[in-house]
Amino acid sequence: MHIQENISLVPLTTFRVGGPARFFARVRSSEEAAEALSWAEARSMPVFVLGGGTNVLAADEGFPGLVIKVENTDFEMQSDGSVTVGAGVPMGRVVQEAAKAGLTGFEWAAGLPGTVGGAIFGNAGAFGHATGEFIREVTVIGSAGVIGGSDPTILAPPEVQFRYRWSNFKEWPGTVIFRGVFQLKTDNDPASITAEIQRVMAARCAHQPLGDRSEGCIFKNPSAKQLAGKLIDECGLKGVRVGGAEVSRKHANFIVNIGSATARDIMQLILLIKQRVYEKTGIELEEEVRYLKA
Ligand code: EPU
Repeated sequence: MHIQENISLVPLTTFRVGGPARFFARVRSSEEAAEALSWAEARSMPVFVLGGGTNVLAADEGFPGLVIKVENTDFEMQSDGSVTVGAGVPMGRVVQEAAKAGLTGFEWAAGLPGTVGGAIFGNAGAFGHATGEFIREVTVIGSAGVIGGSDPTILAPPEVQFRYRWSNFKEWPGTVIFRGVFQLKTDNDPASITAEIQRVMAARCAHQPLGDRSEGCIFKNPSAKQLAGKLIDECGLKGVRVGGAEVSRKHANFIVNIGSATARDIMQLILLIKQRVYEKTGIELEEEVRYLKA
């Protein structure tokens, strides 16, 4: 494992903003993950575990600790429909490989940005489904005192819990999600899997600014009836800008970096949206995006 210094976070998140990580390590094996965690622990240094950087807003000042980017790309399918996947594998690859193998269950995730690790961490979801529904087990590398130290530990529900855009990994910040096992089902009609993937992709393309520099939805939906995108839209905020950050004109729960945004612009726009929605509706929006900052 190689610890690098002062690595720009700009190319590591899809917002393409942020300062440097004081220290940075790419980890591919469980040994490397454990080594990185203990390196930071020995220096009492904060750790931020990064996947695809599709739901992370990196501060302009950077991060004063160690950013660990998980790049485990294990991929194995078993005949019972279970799929063992490294945390660094893009979710899109799981969707494609499952479809090729005639496994159904993951079609909803077509076009979902980010990696398996990030999707487990945030219980990423869309179209009525979420990652946690398909989890059989998760292999983690823990930080001391949290979940058993540096040996890979296999956790399964109910030890691992999922709720809307939440998993209990959010309460174990110094923990590396290293691998997941998803349980899918064999489908006797593979053409229907492909058709469903196409339907999901078309729905995403129609309603979400997919090609832009954004981070997926910025806010959680406050409830099934209170939809953040609709609330923001009804406040007339589509197209509103702070510096280089703009509320997407396509879907109001997305913020787009139109080219020159700083993290500060995006944070100010987030505050402005929260304030306007609160003033108009009394509802306090809660960020889905995570801050990578001191
Ligand atoms: N709407 C508006 N204006 C907008 C956007 C949406 O009026 O600018 C309305 C839509 O017309 C619709 C309702 O709001 O009636 C809901 O919109 P949409 O169907 O796009 O779903 P959403 O609740 O905004 C959720 C997830 C998305 C996921 C989609 C598709 C959250 C916060 N968002 O969006 O997830 O892709 O459903 O299933 O749960 C993400 O988490 O990053 C994300 C993008």
